[in-house]
Amino acid sequence: MPDDELGDRLRVLVHGAGGIGLYAAARLAQAGHEVTLKGRAATVDALRHHDLRVLRDGAATAVHGVRATDVVPDGPFDLVVVATKSWQVDDAARELAPAVGPGTRVLTTQNGVDAPARLAAHLPADTVLAGTVVVIVRRVGPGEVEVVGDEATVTVGSTARAEADLVDRRALTALEGAGIRARWTDDVISALWKKLALIASYGGVGALAGATVGETRSTPETRDLVERAVREVLAVGNAEGARLGDADLADVLHTYESVFAPGTTASMQRDLAEGRPSELADQSGAVVAHAEAAGVDVPVHRTIYASQLPREAAARRTSSPRAGS
Ligand SMILES: NC(=O)c1ccc[n+]([C@@H]2O[C@H](COP(=O)([O-])OP(=O)(O)OC[C@H]3O[C@@H](n4cnc5c(N)ncnc54)[C@H](OP(=O)(O)O)[C@@H]3O)[C@@H](O)[C@H]2O)c1
Repeated sequence: MPDDELGDRLRVLVHGAGGIGLYAAARLAQAGHEVTLKGRAATVDALRHHDLRVLRDGAATAVHGVRATDVVPDGPFDLVVVATKSWQVDDAARELAPAVGPGTRVLTTQNGVDAPARLAAHLPADTVLAGTVVVIVRRVGPGEVEVVGDEATVTVGSTARAEADLVDRRALTALEGAGIRARWTDDVISALWKKLALIASYGGVGALAGATVGETRSTPETRDLVERAVREVLAVGNAEGARLGDADLADVLHTYESVFAPGTTASMQRDLAEGRPSELADQSGAVVAHAEAAGVDVPVHRTIYASQLPREAAARRTSSPRAGS
């Protein structure tokens, strides 16, 4: 593919019409790409009657032209954004096979470190792009998403190659053109573990304590627990090939201590508190599982994981698929 084709109109499939999926579909459609959104029946029905809506700063913007479907169409697509929760990625990966060809890039957005490997179990490994996403978006109804604060930043890399190839660059160009800051990293393993160190630690201690970031960081005992939890994740990541040092520890703690608003809570912590299935298994649960394999002791994450399992199990017993998704 010549360089002058990097800015062209892509065929994009977004899988999952929750916060991230609706946001990505909206921004890529606004940038002129041909966007298909794979959602549940209620989303498909809603988008038959009205445009996708983005709420931001009290204003609603209608985004025209997103095609919604509840069946993954045949591809190949140029870019697939996988926007389900972590525990739904296996099913998504199985569904995605007909949409993916050699020139497709399939971008993960999940917190946690295992989504890229789950996709690669069903799809060619060199089509998978591992992503870490920083944004706050929330699905507020079928086909409606709220954006809080800045547009998304995405760090993207591949476990199959260090350098971006032309097809990768085309995907990054599309994201950038859609107002999403997209940065390539030649060390995506470190990026995934570093994000997990932040989110699983403040969220996990927040879940244990039933407290916001402002509350855990102003209490020396819980602030210390968060730091110990972060150190554990960095150690496990490094045992698995990440290269995370003191500067990364300082960065993660800086975000926790000085960047987050005091009222911040993690989505895993909110889901647990409100009786919904959460990403516990892919956060502290993943830290514990990888730590066992690597022979690293992670007492804080073992405690977080074990203590939250009963709530998680209860939520999964009582939850039914959300009709509105
Ligand atoms: N939201 C954020 O601000 C944010 C920021 C950074 C990273 N992330 C990460 O991004 C991922 C997605 O988060 P989210 O907040 O967008 O979650 P979400 O709102 O729950 O969205 C996931 C959507 O995917 C749908 N889905 C799952 N499997 C499907 C399938 N096979 N077919 C059709 N639809 C399917 C779900 O429907 P059901 O609910 O009906 O299953 C749900 O609507 C998570 O791993 C999260 O950690 C989120």
